[in-house]
Amino acid sequence: MTAFSLTINGAKRTVDVAPDTPLLWVLRDSLDMTGTKFGCGMAQCGACTVHLDGVATRSCVLPVSVVMGKKITTIEGLSADRSHALQKAWIAEDVPQCGYCQSGQLMSAAALLAKSPHPTDGEIDSAMAGNICRCGTYQRIRKAIHRAAQEG
Ligand code: FES
Ligand code: FES
Repeated sequence: MTAFSLTINGAKRTVDVAPDTPLLWVLRDSLDMTGTKFGCGMAQCGACTVHLDGVATRSCVLPVSVVMGKKITTIEGLSADRSHALQKAWIAEDVPQCGYCQSGQLMSAAALLAKSPHPTDGEIDSAMAGNICRCGTYQRIRKAIHRAAQEG
């Protein structure tokens, strides 16, 4: 076990875990931040997406030892009160079905809008390609991203 000091959603957190522990387990098991989901555990589905210095990243394959000194943002840090434009658009477009993939979808979409505030359909499809939704909510996701881009 090793102590790691992490910056998560603007707060300093210290965890005592093995260096190769995936960030996803640290978030969910050590810090009880369960908004970030486990899907495949193999960087294939996007359910575990968080931001690392603003870049959408799969936390299931990311050892905690490499994230020290980086700014980590999880779904809990997107906004304190569901006021992020994407959260409002997700609600307005009634995007989720079962909901399991949606925190990962939102984090990928948020990274996209931060980089490209008015993305084309092609940019959306490319940025969201790594986020699988078994319920097939892709059309509503695309619509909600456009809505968030317009309504800011
Ligand atoms: S759980 Fe990380 S990509 Fe599927
Ligand atoms: S809403 Fe069910 S997996 Fe995406």
